[in-house]
Parts: sequence; C-alpha cells; structure tokens
Amino acid sequence: MKKSERKRKQEKEKKIIITVDGPAGSGKTTIAKMLSEKLKLYHLSSGKIYRAIAYLEMNYGLEKALELAEKLKIRKNKIFFEGENLDEYLSKEEVGKRASDMSEIKEVREKVNKIQKEIAERVKKGIVVDGRDEGTEVFPSANIKIFIDASLEERARRKYLESAQKGENKTFEFFLETIRKRDAQDSQRAISPLRIPHDSLYIDSTSKTPEEVLEEILNFIKIQKPEILRSLNVDL
Ligand code: DC
Repeated sequence: MKKSERKRKQEKEKKIIITVDGPAGSGKTTIAKMLSEKLKLYHLSSGKIYRAIAYLEMNYGLEKALELAEKLKIRKNKIFFEGENLDEYLSKEEVGKRASDMSEIKEVREKVNKIQKEIAERVKKGIVVDGRDEGTEVFPSANIKIFIDASLEERARRKYLESAQKGENKTFEFFLETIRKRDAQDSQRAISPLRIPHDSLYIDSTSKTPEEVLEEILNFIKIQKPEILRSLNVDL
C-alpha cells in the first residue's frame, strides 16, 4: 500500500470526537443529538451518567452506587439499570441537583470518565458527547470543541417550558433559582469545573433556535474542518 493510501486509511479509522459543553439549560444535549444525527455519529450525554449515579446514591448510598455504576447499561443514550429505563426519572430537576452534588466527588468523576471513554472506544466512527468538562478534561484532544451558552433567564425559561409540557407545576422562579445555584456549584467546584475550552467554537444561543445553532456549527465544520466531513463520508 502506498504511503498516501495508508495515511488516508489511518485517517478513516481514527475516531472522531466532538465535545459540546455548556451550562444547565443551554441546549447542549439537544444540539449534540441533532449534530450526531447529521454526522451519523453516536450521541452520549455525560450529564445523564452523573444523574444515574445520583439515582443509585439516593437509593443505595455512595459506596454501593460506585460499585453498581458498572452495571448501568447505556444504549443509544438511554440508561438502564437492572432492565429498567431510568430516563424519565433522571430528567427531573431534583436529580440534576443531586448529580451536581455528586459531580464534586473525585471518585464519581473518575467513574463517569471511565464509562465515557469505554463508550468512545466502542463506537464505530465517532461520538458527539455533551457535558461540562468534555473539551477541557475528558477529551482534551477532541477534533471539534463547541461551547453553547445562553442567558440565565432564557435557560430557566426553557427548563420551565419543558417541565410545564410534562404537566409538572413548577414555577419559572423555581427554575431561575435552581439554575442559578447549579451554575455556581458547577463552575466553582474544585475539580473539573465548567470552563470554556480555549480552542472551542463559542455560541450564545439566547435568541437562537436549535436549528440556527446547528446551522452555525455545520457551517463552521464545512469551512474550518472539511477533512472531518470527508473522513465521515458526509456531504452537508
Ligand atoms: O447536563 P446535566 O444538567 O444533565 O448534568 C447534571 C449535572 O452533572 C451537572 O449539574 C453537573 C454534572 N456534570 C458534570 O459535572 N460534568 C459533566 N461533564 C456533565 C455533568
């Protein structure tokens, strides 16, 4: 095989990693999912793994939770424990708060990072992973890093609408307050706090629809990272 062919083959075999970080309610999970569908990559939401460990901790205590975390099954970004899909329960704000508490513990972060890296190893072509420290700590040499932001009020409004749609009767003020607290906790913790990766594409989504944000990202990839589209065989 010629050197150039070998290089092309190696490029093809290398997994693509795209990180999407941002604060609670920024829309990072929605965007990561849409982007993964466009690029035909696997999508993983790391916050959900923190939430699943919070669920286990609430039921079994921390020590056992870390042990049981090995038994979590993650399939197509859905989380199962002993055959039960935990997703609906995990989306609750109370679980998000507990996940934020848990995420300050070194052993919990190590466990979640291990699970994520195993999944990234397993996927075929690559992964779009969303969270808080994906571009800074978990996958510092990711091919593309994106940071999605939005004003506190807008993020609270999104969470409020989502909850109202589910028939819950929580107020806008409840979300304003809980997200304010979660922002402080996630960005001030000692290990792996929420930070904007210096080499990321920063998008303020406050007055943008998810489709507009996606378009901005796709344009960025087309112009700045065309080799990724080539290696994925995707024509946008
Ligand atoms: O994205 P989310 O709201 O589902 O995440 C829940 C909590 O998990 C978040 O408040 C902090 C923690 N988390 C983290 O510390 N690091 C990540 N990469 C993802 C989430």
